[in-house]
Amino acid sequence: MIRSLRGMNDTLEIEDSARFSYFIQTATRIATNYGFRFIETPQLEETALFKRSVGESSDIVGKEMYQFIDKGENDVCLRPEGTAGVVRAFVQNKYDRVETVQRFFYHGTMFRYERPQKGRLRQFHQFGCESFGEANVLEDASLILMVRDIFNALGINFTLKLNSLGDSNCMPQYRESLVSFLETHEADICEDCQRRKATNPIRVLDCKNTHCQDIYVKAPKLMQNLCEGCDSDFKTLTSLLDEHGMAYEIDTHLVRGLDYYSKTAFEFVSTEIGAQSAIAGGGRYDRLVEFLDGRATPAIGFAIGIERLMELIVMPEKTREGYYFGAMDENAISKVYKLGMQKRASEKVTIGYKARNLKAHLKAADKADAQYCVILGENELNNGTLWVKDLLNKTESEVAQETF
Ligand code: HAM
Repeated sequence: MIRSLRGMNDTLEIEDSARFSYFIQTATRIATNYGFRFIETPQLEETALFKRSVGESSDIVGKEMYQFIDKGENDVCLRPEGTAGVVRAFVQNKYDRVETVQRFFYHGTMFRYERPQKGRLRQFHQFGCESFGEANVLEDASLILMVRDIFNALGINFTLKLNSLGDSNCMPQYRESLVSFLETHEADICEDCQRRKATNPIRVLDCKNTHCQDIYVKAPKLMQNLCEGCDSDFKTLTSLLDEHGMAYEIDTHLVRGLDYYSKTAFEFVSTEIGAQSAIAGGGRYDRLVEFLDGRATPAIGFAIGIERLMELIVMPEKTREGYYFGAMDENAISKVYKLGMQKRASEKVTIGYKARNLKAHLKAADKADAQYCVILGENELNNGTLWVKDLLNKTESEVAQETF
């Protein structure tokens, strides 16, 4: 038997597919309310796109890309995340020349060649939002509150972690002071951190090695070295979140695993799903559009990892809806099919294709969660009527076919 690849799953169990669709419906409704519109970008992009945006020093680009040379000798890769493709589409389609704010949402599969474990897959789904052209910190608050609204609507508990990664005014100076700190501890830090010191020093701060973490408790904090603009924006953001009753933890070691961030960085975590606890992550990336050859455009976004939510989503109570159509006589099948098809224009309809007795049809209607079981037998065929049972209100009636 040929099996699916490691870390790549099917979503076909009724419970899972219902949760998945319910998540997409809920997140789409909320993102639309916040002014976002749907965007779809390809799953395959030039490798250079991710090298330039996510960053060569990141684990995603350095170790986890599904990269290959295609039949036309192009160096391509399956997208490990959604932001880079959306920014490329934004620039390629000259949206960077449009003055108004542009907001997009997307959902789809992402690919990372990571070691699979609970909550960590090689093919997984994200729901993401990207907002372009708004430097106002009110937008940062809106995106965070939108994630909150999505999780609240789904009955998901979470903690918000928040940090500021500074900008081109304050980050370079901070990086220098962090590097000097690392140099004084060179012999004690892990090999990965020694490498990060040269490639992307701030990534040392979220090293998983506990010995390194003990050392970094004393490392200089960017939060205490922000320039005036970043400091004031961060304070405005936290007071906006306070005003909206949104609790947060400031985590000065939250640096995110992708290189394009500046200023606001955030992660939503759950304590109910084990080690892979991040259920959403995002932040500002004010320089990325320019970096990908567009006009300088401030931007901010986030992505939610859908698989990690599956066991957390509280589904609404199941209700009966729509119709089940069944024939009790071979001669009634074509009429039942016709009536059922007509009803499908406005209602959810299940049609039984075989002539069966009443009990079997009622059972099938119940299984299909239909509210009405509509039956056509020999009598009804002769009288031009239908027998209808309302499975919710437990009533029965006979109705004329032409009025149905
Ligand atoms: P990220 O933090 O790399 O950010 O991923 C976002 C979410 O995707 C994570 O919080 C997690 O829930 C889920 N995720 C990541 N890797 C896996 C995996 N291997 N298996 C299952 N779920 C996973 C980004 O991707 C950014 N593009 C977010 C963003 C959008 N920033 C700005 N705009």
